[in-house]
Amino acid sequence: MAKSFLVINSSINSSWLLLVSFFLIVATSLKQSEAASYNVLSYGAKADGRTDSTMAFQRAWSSACGSAVPATVYVPQGNFVLKPVVFTGPCKNRILFLIAGTLIAPSNYWSLGNSGYWILFNKVTRVTVHGGTLNARGSGYWACKSSGKSCPVGARSISLEGSSNVVISGITSMNSQNIHIAIDNCVNVLIQNVKIRAPSQSPNTDGIHISSSTGVTIASSSFMTGDDCISIGPGSKNVWIQHVACGPGHGISVGSLAENANEEGVENVTVTGAVFTGTQNGVRIKSWGRPSTGFARTISFRNIIMKNVFNPIIIDQNYCPSNTNCPNQNSGVKISRVTYKNIKGTSATPVAMNFVCSPTNPCSGIALQNIELKYLTAQATSYCKNAGGSSRGIVVPRSCF
Ligand SMILES: *[C@@H]1O[C@H](CO)[C@@H](O)[C@H](O)[C@H]1NC(C)=O
Repeated sequence: MAKSFLVINSSINSSWLLLVSFFLIVATSLKQSEAASYNVLSYGAKADGRTDSTMAFQRAWSSACGSAVPATVYVPQGNFVLKPVVFTGPCKNRILFLIAGTLIAPSNYWSLGNSGYWILFNKVTRVTVHGGTLNARGSGYWACKSSGKSCPVGARSISLEGSSNVVISGITSMNSQNIHIAIDNCVNVLIQNVKIRAPSQSPNTDGIHISSSTGVTIASSSFMTGDDCISIGPGSKNVWIQHVACGPGHGISVGSLAENANEEGVENVTVTGAVFTGTQNGVRIKSWGRPSTGFARTISFRNIIMKNVFNPIIIDQNYCPSNTNCPNQNSGVKISRVTYKNIKGTSATPVAMNFVCSPTNPCSGIALQNIELKYLTAQATSYCKNAGGSSRGIVVPRSCF
């Protein structure tokens, strides 16, 4: 009897223990996921499109950044007004910045305009920003610029500074005052499934601008804006751009280079799978006609469709707005090993391929292969100045090397 009681008792005990440990595990994991998710509403943000939620976002970020386990900053649906805000790292673990709603700038453009940035990620690593819409409401600022009044410098909507292993995906950025997404001094950045939207006449609203960064991939994204869809500035290396649509806009540009005398070069850039529609340029390399230590080498543009593009293929080393500060128009930038392959479609001007290189630093190693560009229904032409290279396969218009 005693023995069987003991047996029953011990079996109750063990199932009880099992149950308790089960609840403990559930409770711990609940607590962990709770501890690692930081909803901006819990920090005082209001989704009413009127209340300034900047401090709430800042506090949610600080909590997430201090979390020992992977953390999520969550922005639910609704409209959140944000002033310029800096999310600073390094953080203790990886962070997902998950946005379901819309971030909007204050209606007065001065509130962003003086800082140069709107949403700045500084020195972060292992951060993913996903989803949502950013509306910087830039129209007042653009109007100020075109009025000739004195205006603030203008804010970039998203800035990544000194950061690594960052992903930006599924975001729509609208009407930035200045550049939509700026990547500076970063390593290993992936941008995908983003939409950039600003009017074709909005000034300096580049979609993505890269500078002094290594390992930047831009994929499956669409750009309709007033300046370059993507611009690749000095110090950019190992840049991969794949499956993008551009237009309206000024195309994809390497440059401007030679803005400064002492400048890093651009190296190993690939654009593959791109459609340009009604853009000012297709693929462009652009440098000021000024002395510089900069260079552009190992650049590949391939698998590209041009639809009524004003300058489908262009190298312009004579960039000199208003013809000031460009002594003799000789660019110090050396351009070499540029490949154009499988590029088809229509040019909106007679000159579909235009290579205007520096008299003191001629372009070398330009390779053309399978190019078919028409001017409306007629023959297009090519133009070369100080440019050398080779062509293979079908090249229409014929190369001018
Ligand atoms: C060029 O860049 C790509 C990524 O865009 C990278 O995979 C490749 O290794 C780089 N090549 C060199 C020689 O660094």
